[in-house]
Amino acid sequence: MRIARTAAECRALRSELGGSLGLVPTMGYLHEGHLALVRAARADCDHTCASIFVNPAQFGPREDLSRYPRDPERDLALLNAEGVAFVFMPELGEVYPPGFDTWVEPGAVSAPLEGKSRPGHFRGVATVVCKLFNIVQPQRAYFGEKDAQQLRVVTQMVHDLDLPLEIVPVPIVRDADGLALSSRNVYLSSEQRRQALALSASLRLARALVAGGERRVRSIKARMRGLIQREPEAAIDYISIADSSTLAELTTIDRPALISLAVRIGATRLIDNTVVLP
Ligand code: PAJ
Repeated sequence: MRIARTAAECRALRSELGGSLGLVPTMGYLHEGHLALVRAARADCDHTCASIFVNPAQFGPREDLSRYPRDPERDLALLNAEGVAFVFMPELGEVYPPGFDTWVEPGAVSAPLEGKSRPGHFRGVATVVCKLFNIVQPQRAYFGEKDAQQLRVVTQMVHDLDLPLEIVPVPIVRDADGLALSSRNVYLSSEQRRQALALSASLRLARALVAGGERRVRSIKARMRGLIQREPEAAIDYISIADSSTLAELTTIDRPALISLAVRIGATRLIDNTVVLP
């Protein structure tokens, strides 16, 4: 497995490889969720590239950029074991050199949910992802459904800007008890981790209510809220039931709906989601 630290090295490595290339963009501190993206890319493409870059542009001023977990050596060993051809691991100044001054501004799908709670977040995501696509030049790029709105924003960007690649969604990977894997789960104490199960439990409850015929968004949200509020350290940021393509809030589940939530467990902000059909 080769490692590129600059865009020029990355381009050189890419041009040595014939055939199709799949890109898996990450911020490192890899877990089985990230590795599921790598395995999907390996299955579809002749070669796989992973990127590791903790992108400051997508963190707000009061967010966890400075303490975001990092373990590049372990990440590289995991990627090597998965058969990744090369890793793009740039320094900050390689991605945002002095004088950098052009941004990708996503539209309406970036406004609600994470976009509302984290102003500027998706502008940072779209800009770095666009740069990664231009540097690595993959035929396909793999994104987790864990970050459902991010997947929607990136898909829209590729469509609107005629970027010559395909975006491939990969299902959420969960621990056996239901907790969605996240690099941020390391922030949780064992008691907080137990309380964090309320996120996936509330989504299972919502799915069960819909399966039982409930269509009223207000009553589903109330039941989810009730379940989460039983946990002493849980503070709900949002619970949303929205049209899965426009992300506009619904009052009745009469079309495919994205049920998503963001909940703080102590100081750690976690997100999770599921899609239900009427
Ligand atoms: P990061 O949080 O490291 O996630 C990288 C990719 O892994 C994303 O596509 C995310 O949706 C996926 N992922 C994370 N946890 C997952 C899980 N439990 N199951 C399935 N997929 C999972 O998302 C980012 O980084 C950044 O915003 C990035 C796209 C790299 C741009 O900086």
